[in-house]
Amino acid sequence: MHSGIVSPKGVWWLPAGKQEKLWVTIAFIWCLVLFAMMPLWHLKGGQNPTGERATVTKEAFTERVNRFVDEYKVGEDKGFPIVEAPPGSHLYMLGRMWQWYPILKLKQGATYTLHLSSVDLNHGFNLFPINVNFQVIPGYDYALKITPNIAGEFKVVCNEFCGIGHHTMVGKIIVEP
Ligand code: CUA
Repeated sequence: MHSGIVSPKGVWWLPAGKQEKLWVTIAFIWCLVLFAMMPLWHLKGGQNPTGERATVTKEAFTERVNRFVDEYKVGEDKGFPIVEAPPGSHLYMLGRMWQWYPILKLKQGATYTLHLSSVDLNHGFNLFPINVNFQVIPGYDYALKITPNIAGEFKVVCNEFCGIGHHTMVGKIIVEP
């Protein structure tokens, strides 16, 4: 009879049984597989953002966004400028309490470089209903290479809590076929 109170006789942990050896071997091989997945996923997984990062002051970014709006404005929606720049150009979107500025109009299949930054605090760029998520951080210009492959109207929802008006921080991106 085994009991937790009475200690077993002899060196009970030696030698390791067949099952124990088998499970340790399987666990070890699985560790190696997971370890290999880290670099593999990074290199082959297609999960990495295509972005380039640079530091930028809030003033410089705001100024750049305003110039972008002045140059390519094509309309207005509830006081927000709708901006359509030619394919291949640099697009600018600014996050601030509590709006995404301006509204962007894109062409399906065209490639752009989308610059994101914030002028106050952390915001979260979430393209809805598509699952695209990026942090928008003050002081950093995050430039993403994008090629919209679906036409339609998409919402930009802020998914980083940024104060009392967080839930109202909804922008828009229009993709034309
Ligand atoms: Cu911006 Cu939440």
